[in-house]
Amino acid sequence: MKNKNFEKKSFQKAANIIEKGEIVAFPTETVYGLGANVFDIKAVKKIFETKGRPSDNPLIVHISNISELEQLVDNIPKEAEILMKKFWPGSLTLIFFKSKLVPKIVSAGGNTVGVRMPDNKIAKEFIKKCGVPIAAPSANISGRPSPTSAEHVFTDFGDKVFILDGGSCKVGLESTVLDLTVKPFQVLRPGGISFEELKKVLKNIELHPALFNKKLPNKLKSPGMKYKHYSPEAKIILFSEKKMIENIQKIIIKYKKENKKVGVISTKETKNNYDLADLVLDIGSKNDLEKTARNLFKIFREFDEHKVDIILSETFSDKGIGFATMNRLRKAADNIF
Ligand code: TXA
Ligand code: MG
Repeated sequence: MKNKNFEKKSFQKAANIIEKGEIVAFPTETVYGLGANVFDIKAVKKIFETKGRPSDNPLIVHISNISELEQLVDNIPKEAEILMKKFWPGSLTLIFFKSKLVPKIVSAGGNTVGVRMPDNKIAKEFIKKCGVPIAAPSANISGRPSPTSAEHVFTDFGDKVFILDGGSCKVGLESTVLDLTVKPFQVLRPGGISFEELKKVLKNIELHPALFNKKLPNKLKSPGMKYKHYSPEAKIILFSEKKMIENIQKIIIKYKKENKKVGVISTKETKNNYDLADLVLDIGSKNDLEKTARNLFKIFREFDEHKVDIILSETFSDKGIGFATMNRLRKAADNIF
């Protein structure tokens, strides 16, 4: 894909664009972000407009050095220090009470702010060159799967945004969002750092109840929870473990009779069971949960490119990062069989 807005290591150019009040797409270890100077209200507004993002959904602020945190938050609980020491730079976003310096548009009117330090050389170099923290959601059109490569960002925005190309993202799913403004601390979104890993460091942590069922609670802590997210164009049906292969085979036949283009998300171990489907994409071995996490959004986008009508997906382990993979699949699914 040839495009002048698609460059490797042009940190200075990217920083100049930020300084002019424009937005830049940049890689992180989780997914690509669409960034602006956190203190520049007009620039942050451009992020919302470009993505088509609802204004009640706050942005995560990215820093390259711990010294940038103090200006953003009201106070830093001592447990936060432990978490930052262990997991930063990395795929953990911490929610603090915000300082007055953080514009309301960033926090979507709320009194808290999410901050993280990405574990990606290009991201860190870029933020450092900008000299200010960078507010950034995932660099996809709202509702589409998060981008895990520069090509994905280009598919959604074309020439509209400058893209710092950092290749494929190492984690492939977004960061874990942990709210430190409530006790016990609450995981609002599972992600790159697993609940088990967090628990090893701090006992006083729980999963938000909304993560256990598909029904939405009345009061939502993380506005992102209420949107149908991460979805490919096609309808997705998830198949639970009991008689999974057999059930998928039956439903392939049903949809083929209706002349639908049918895709299947399989594992390496099961991919040979679905010959009647139009496209079978193997997400990796069922025993390699890092790989299944890394491949999910890429696979969603591949099904879109092939314009399948329906995706039948196996379910995977909920252990470790598998919980985040299954969270994205459940959110994208229209039905669970
Ligand atoms: O890995 C990631 O987190 C990526 C990369 C670019 O850093 N970013 C990302 O941003 O996924 P976004 O905006 O697509 O998702 C952020 C999630 C949303 O569900 C949002 O509602 C939640 O974090 N969030 C952000 N700030 C929050 C806050 N102050 N309180 C509660 N939830 C918040
Ligand atoms: Mg997003």
